[in-house]
Amino acid sequence: MRKQTQKLIYCLVAGLLPIAVFGFSSGPPIPRAGVPGDAGGQNCSSCHRTFGGANADPAGSVKIEAATYKPGVPQVIKVTVQHPEALRWGFQLTARLKGDDQKMAGTFTVDSNVQVRCSPTGNSPCNGALEFAEHREVYTHGGVNGSKTFEIEWNPPASEVGEVIFYAAGNAANGDGNLTGDRIYTTTLTVAAGGACTLTKKPALRGVGDAAAGKPGLAMNSLLSIYGNDFQVAGSSRLAGPADFVGGAFPKQLGCIAVEVAGQRVPVTYVQSDQINAQVPTLTQTGTVNVLVIANPGQVNELRSDVGTISLQNYAPQLFTFNGSSVAALIAGTATPVANPSVAASGRPAKPGEIISLFGTGFGPTEPVYQAGEIASSTTPVKLRDPVTIAVGGTTLAASDVLFAGAAPGLISGLYQINIRIPAATADGDIPVSVQIGGITSATGTTIPVKR
Ligand code: HEC
Repeated sequence: MRKQTQKLIYCLVAGLLPIAVFGFSSGPPIPRAGVPGDAGGQNCSSCHRTFGGANADPAGSVKIEAATYKPGVPQVIKVTVQHPEALRWGFQLTARLKGDDQKMAGTFTVDSNVQVRCSPTGNSPCNGALEFAEHREVYTHGGVNGSKTFEIEWNPPASEVGEVIFYAAGNAANGDGNLTGDRIYTTTLTVAAGGACTLTKKPALRGVGDAAAGKPGLAMNSLLSIYGNDFQVAGSSRLAGPADFVGGAFPKQLGCIAVEVAGQRVPVTYVQSDQINAQVPTLTQTGTVNVLVIANPGQVNELRSDVGTISLQNYAPQLFTFNGSSVAALIAGTATPVANPSVAASGRPAKPGEIISLFGTGFGPTEPVYQAGEIASSTTPVKLRDPVTIAVGGTTLAASDVLFAGAAPGLISGLYQINIRIPAATADGDIPVSVQIGGITSATGTTIPVKR
């Protein structure tokens, strides 16, 4: 068994681990990403050395693709290994602070293709130790012959840490299941922090209320608006979108602003100079709790507002409106607003007997409970845990006229939707509507335009 002997010799030369550990099914040993401060900058060519050291054959290469990073916002790093003759592929990737290559920058996510090893010998989670992302065996082929791109999710540090250097080693292998005939490449890529936080003024709070009616009472997961000054540079605003999501949920920092409610960082959905939209945490606590706005969170130039307070209750139902009175409703299953055209250009009043969707916040727990910032299922209906009653024109709707009450499908967890049928006997006009849950009724003065 010449091959076996060869293998054994290489592994003894490498002299680190028992032979079984070197099988590429368990992934390459660490550290082999070519970081100068890691054991003298070793790479895969300490074993795969048919062609000499790394980058010896100019026909091949390894390339890293990464964008400037946003603190706390994961991004996918691409590592492409290429050589015209290669048939099987491997890589190892790490990320270090530019100022100190022995300090890890962020963490890597383990998945079915990518494993993460921790310095010196552990498996993820690395708890702050140096991390190396590398291929699992299943990820070594299946690419087009000639090149393969690996995708690795990287979670940048929670705060801005200056420039980060990625180091990658790649193996453009011949697929013989052995050490020989494989070409090794190394490379680096430096990325800067995008949008390092540079707000200069201490944020000032003026008031806090629910995002629908602006009332002071709030419940778990309520969408809230904070009014004040110096939340952003005048004229700039940030609306959170999927690119800002962290782990599939709204971020806890947006536009260099974080919010604390009851001592917890909360999801932030929108920021402008005098308003922040955020969400109450998923907690059962009631009574007075603190609210605080933090500019440049986690950085040396962090600025904290004075502490304000809000009152938490079990339920604080409120309906969104278009203009303070005309309820924000849609003809069910359409994008047509239920509104007089003077309120919403594309809108029309509801007809008696028609089904419409109302939107609100503060309706308490759903089943299942979604955490603040999470997105409610868009496929399985997520209903309210507790019974709700809706009054239209002063009369409580029959249960059969309340077709759904729960989380708005596919939207942030604190946004609730109620589908109701306008009773056939409802008169024309602006008809009062209110929601009651847990003994609490939404604000008066909210109306539905109805016209036969
Ligand atoms: C300590 C020695 C050692 C080092 C260092 C090492 N490997 Fe390997 N590698 C092996 C051995 C031994 C095999 C053969 C595995 C087997 O027979 O299961 C192998 C096989 C492979 C294969 C399959 C080769 C083929 O032709 O099919 C890939 C891909 C691979 N290694 C990638 C890497 C990468 C990427 C690195 C650097 C990050 C690396 N290896 C570093 C020992 C090593």
